[in-house]
Amino acid sequence: MGLPPNSLYATQMELLSNSPNIPVALTTLLAIETSCDETGVAIVQKSGQEINVLASAVASQTNIHELTGGVVPSAAAREHEKVLEPLITSVMAQAEVGPADLDAIAVTYGPGLQPALGVGVRAARRLSEEWNKLIVPVNHLEGHIYSALLQGEPNFPALALIVSGGHTLLVLVKDHLDYEVIGSTRDDAAGEAFDKVARLLGLPYPGGPALSRLAKSGNPAAFAFPRPMLHSGDFDFSFSGLKTAVLYTLRENKNINFSNVAAGFEQAVVDTLVSKTMKAVEQFGPVVVLLAGGVAANMQLRRQLEEAAAQEQIELRIAPPELCGDNAVMIGQVGLFAYEAGRRAQANALEPIARLVLAPALAR
Ligand code: KG4
Ligand code: ZN
Repeated sequence: MGLPPNSLYATQMELLSNSPNIPVALTTLLAIETSCDETGVAIVQKSGQEINVLASAVASQTNIHELTGGVVPSAAAREHEKVLEPLITSVMAQAEVGPADLDAIAVTYGPGLQPALGVGVRAARRLSEEWNKLIVPVNHLEGHIYSALLQGEPNFPALALIVSGGHTLLVLVKDHLDYEVIGSTRDDAAGEAFDKVARLLGLPYPGGPALSRLAKSGNPAAFAFPRPMLHSGDFDFSFSGLKTAVLYTLRENKNINFSNVAAGFEQAVVDTLVSKTMKAVEQFGPVVVLLAGGVAANMQLRRQLEEAAAQEQIELRIAPPELCGDNAVMIGQVGLFAYEAGRRAQANALEPIARLVLAPALAR
């Protein structure tokens, strides 16, 4: 009685582990994510190898950005400002965790929209001073990687395909918090291409899921859309030419079957992503392939990558649906490992970095 939940839990763990002199370390973090158009807050806990999510919430701004057909950074930041603090209060209450139970605050500081990132970083700085807590800065892309990596024992080297509205990346994950970007998009991200083509087809924002639904009834072979950079000899992507090809096809063919266009476009994107990923598997020999980010929700991509991985007899881990889009659980998951590795930010100096890159030197 009278013990905060942490101490009680730690005591139980000591008894369970039957070695009262070596207490099992218990780390509890508040995690904050505001890099784009979702406000995410979570409380995560790590005890030994076990990670638990005590509470998590995501407030989506989709209905706001629907009106403009895309994310306006200042509007995103305003919305984060409005919902972040109440969300922190409610998630902490739901987890039955108070400031005294927290070891640190993990926060996304990039990459993303500068004004949006700023809201999360400022909140983390303020709370860190108020509660006297450390800040663990997290790269948003690490979060996407961990959302898939932790769907089993973390095994290395892993090869991660991150596909979202803002990013298309192939990353070699050599160890915890040790990354090498081996390929990225030279123009539009995969999700961005889905959203832009969806718009050409008159579908509402965000267009990825809607386009994918439309594609189900279409014939993917009806149009010969290009597979950009398929044979470029590197692991980079480019999707803007494909979007232009769709635009010209629509202009040149009146009364065109939109389902066929959607299916042909989707197939071209998926073929490119899967082919480059499997080439990277061949070259780098990872023990596991990870698929994460908003576009990982795409069924066609999941299916084809599953087939390709099975053929090569390599394990594939896909982020669960609730962790595909932006969320704070994944930021907390990285935060726990980074906290253990000693990563800290000077609370009064941490600034958002819109173009933060994923690099080994920055990661530790
Ligand atoms: O990871 P996410 O929520 O936000 C970013 O960090 O960008 O990804 C959102 C992106 C959007 O472009 C959306 O259209 C796309 O993921 N998306 C999909 C599907 N579901 C979401 N794209 C294709 N097929 C889907 N089923
Ligand atoms: Zn994201």
